Amino acid sequence: MRSMLFVPADSERKLAKAQGSQADALILDLEDAVAPSQKPAARQAAAQYLQSQGEQSKARLFVRINPLDSGLALDDLAAVLVPGLSGIMLPKVRGAADVQLLSHYLDALEVRAGLVPGSVRIVPVATETAASMLTMTSYASTPLPRLAGVTWGAEDLSTAIGAISNREDDGALSPLYTMAQSMCLCVAGVSGVAAIDTLYADFRDADGLMAACRLSRRRGFGGRIAIHPDQVEVINAAFTPSDAERQAAQRIVDAFDAQPDAGVVSIDGAMYDIPHLKQARRTLGQRA
Ligand code: COA
Ligand code: MG
Repeated sequence: MRSMLFVPADSERKLAKAQGSQADALILDLEDAVAPSQKPAARQAAAQYLQSQGEQSKARLFVRINPLDSGLALDDLAAVLVPGLSGIMLPKVRGAADVQLLSHYLDALEVRAGLVPGSVRIVPVATETAASMLTMTSYASTPLPRLAGVTWGAEDLSTAIGAISNREDDGALSPLYTMAQSMCLCVAGVSGVAAIDTLYADFRDADGLMAACRLSRRRGFGGRIAIHPDQVEVINAAFTPSDAERQAAQRIVDAFDAQPDAGVVSIDGAMYDIPHLKQARRTLGQRA
């Protein structure tokens, strides 16, 4: 999933617009983009969208439910566990135990809905609470077979610790949030799933988004959250390997294929060993 587009589920207009999106996944939002008074209506709209669009949707359909300790999550889940649902985005997690608890809920609700057991996947937002930052290592010791990716957020974390801003005077993220971003990469790595970078808020700034996506891809992210339909094309382009990158990766794979017993090869005066070969195979495995 290169692009995951947030769509507030209480907005008929935005749900309609999302149907034509090239996003790899839509996230029908029941949480922070929906006012408390609109939660029940948003739940019903999300369920209806899943049932009517699920089969024909090009995008995988996720729902961001409310946090497990909000008193709303079970109602959210009971409403949206219907055919057409690909996965749940879980906000404000406190650690891998929360993901495991959600997985147990899904075990039961899948049976009730007649869905294939284990088919509904989970994308946790791994860094939104103070507790989550202190339990990050829990992902290394907890098997989470439903994980489909991991993402992170800086806004709720700053609110959780009472910070006035998550940025320095020059606009750069403060250390706690660059740590959160790096931890997201490690959680994804230890879990063997893609890291999905957080949103880029200035949705009219396509050049800025492209530059930010290029940087996040170099750092190890496989995709990014979108909050506006105009961001999807930029994100998809940024997270698709270029022809030059694919050719370079192919040369590395070819060099190792030509010398099956070699652990290291040289191409144009540069050294390549097994980590480079793995990265090259990963590049070739990504969609062109
Ligand atoms: N999904 C689907 N459609 C969207 C959309 C989204 N996230 N954001 C905007 N659109 C639609 C608008 O409804 C509008 O469609 P219309 O012409 O049929 O009315 C069109 O795209 C252009 O929208 P625009 O006028 O440029 O933006 P806006 O001012 O209406 O909306 C936001 C700006 C930020 C409020 C809106 O993009 C949004 O709601 N984003 C998602 C926010 C969210 O989910 N946050 C939670 C995660 S952090
Ligand atoms: Mg939030």
